Amino acid sequence: MTDKPSPGTPVLELRGVNKSFGPVHVLHDVDFSANAGEVTALVGDNGAGKSTLVKCIGGIYSMDSGEYYFRGEKVSVHGPRDAAKLGIEIVYQDLALCDNLDIVQNMFLGRERGSFALDEGSMEKAAAATLAGLSVRTVKSLRQKVASLSGGQRQTVAIAKAVLWNNAVVILDEPTAALGVAQTAQVLELVRTLAGQGLAVVIISHNMRDVMEVSDRICALYLGRVAADVRTADVSVSDVVQMITTGSGPDGVPVAGGDGNGNGTDGAAAASTAGKVTAPSGGSA
Ligand SMILES: Nc1ncnc2c1ncn2[C@@H]1O[C@H](COP(=O)(O)OP(=O)(O)OP(=O)(O)O)[C@@H](O)[C@H]1O
Ligand SMILES: [Mg+2]
Repeated sequence: MTDKPSPGTPVLELRGVNKSFGPVHVLHDVDFSANAGEVTALVGDNGAGKSTLVKCIGGIYSMDSGEYYFRGEKVSVHGPRDAAKLGIEIVYQDLALCDNLDIVQNMFLGRERGSFALDEGSMEKAAAATLAGLSVRTVKSLRQKVASLSGGQRQTVAIAKAVLWNNAVVILDEPTAALGVAQTAQVLELVRTLAGQGLAVVIISHNMRDVMEVSDRICALYLGRVAADVRTADVSVSDVVQMITTGSGPDGVPVAGGDGNGNGTDGAAAASTAGKVTAPSGGSA
């Protein structure tokens, strides 16, 4: 946590990203950034290209064209290792935790400490310190198998694993999708804590209540194009739903590729416009 940039400074910036799978042009000239100390919500309907963009950021997919900047410097990311080296960690929806291992073993999986024998003590201490630093209180024992944890606790362990390595950017693909109200609140609190520690946090979510509650900025994708990139405080839930479902920006202007009525011009990424956007229903979390 030594050389953290000041809040609001761009840590990650992608410019003009294009990505096709064969004839299917999924991302069109996408600009995306994530700033230190802020939570950026990446929203869009099913098939809008959110996961594809995140996989380009994480080096899982290579971009067909576009530029990638990290802390203001142009970089090349050719694989997940390059992204990890920069300090970019992605928590995928399936979490990639091993059920048969305990919390400490999961957090250090592939990066275990100790030259001959594993240094269990030091790993357990670091895992405990990370969880404590994130104010995680619900996990009873670090030696509990992950299989015995609740969905929210698993999400917590996956996020703690991502921050254990002093990362600069943490990207969470739908971290609350399968969680109940209390667990969602815990994960959102954790997301704010990460931003409070100076990390650039990106969260993908279909839940508008979560987005409005947790984010500082919203980047909306529509049919693989950026429909809007706005400060959360400047928009209402219905503005965001509009951006997602019709591709209109907050001022009602449709982005290229859509006519503002939910009709794309090339249909490449038009998996659905009915989607699963969930607007707040009035109750509080
Ligand atoms: N490996 C692939 N090969 C071919 N097409 C793909 C591939 N991955 C994604 N696509 C297509 O790209 C488009 C965007 O998919 P992506 O998974 O990025 O959407 P998303 O915004 O994450 O949607 P969701 O909210 O449903 O997770 C979709 O039309 C999808 O079919
Ligand atoms: Mg996705």
